[in-house]
Amino acid sequence: MADGRRQTAGGHPASASARLGARDAWLSRLCGRAWPEGLLLDALSLSPALDVLDVGAGDGRLLRELARRGHAGRVVGIDPTPGPGVQPASMVALPFPDASFAVVLFVRVLAHLPDPARALAEARRVLRPGGQVWDAAHGPVHLRATWAALGQPLAPGDTLPESALTVTCPLTVTGDDARFLLGTYGKEAEVSPHLFPVQDAAQLLVWSLAP
Ligand SMILES: C[S@@+](CC[C@H](N)C(=O)[O-])C[C@H]1O[C@@H](n2cnc3c(N)ncnc32)[C@H](O)[C@@H]1O
Repeated sequence: MADGRRQTAGGHPASASARLGARDAWLSRLCGRAWPEGLLLDALSLSPALDVLDVGAGDGRLLRELARRGHAGRVVGIDPTPGPGVQPASMVALPFPDASFAVVLFVRVLAHLPDPARALAEARRVLRPGGQVWDAAHGPVHLRATWAALGQPLAPGDTLPESALTVTCPLTVTGDDARFLLGTYGKEAEVSPHLFPVQDAAQLLVWSLAP
């Protein structure tokens, strides 16, 4: 991904996907766990024999984490901008026959699409009877204390419905961490040293969308 190798003046990758990767790598270091795929897979506790489709798989790291865990079922990822091991395709026309997978995952994808209902219909088409569809999205706690300390509170008035699962990784965020993380959102801020470190958390909310 040549675009991902370019950097902004602040030293962050130029593309959104590379910035997401840089942010996740930083959060993984702070968590001491692979964020978010390691914690998400722990929470889902998928049976190792199940065939899994990761829709909007991005850089393919969830697929690699499943492989690392010795997942025995078929593991497939699709994305219009595919990373290593990910097939090029759009979720609105999945290139698979009906009833191909036991599990379909949308990780930080569905909320960003213009037509999530169509994507969900496609997911259900390729799902086997009795299968699982999971949607994971960043939750309202996601780095809230960090943004508040920076004077840039995010997501006021969160009204997300209750999730089936909440995946949380507690973090201690220093001023340097805050500066880096904010930069991955394409923003710069003055960091007041006396406001950091803060106790914070990265969070995913996970909903079951199975039929
Ligand atoms: C925020 S990234 C999340 C990537 C990965 N699931 C993760 O959590 O690291 C959103 C992903 O959705 C993909 N995407 C956008 N439109 C799509 C579509 N129509 N079908 C499938 N994926 C799509 C993007 O290319 C991008 O990789």
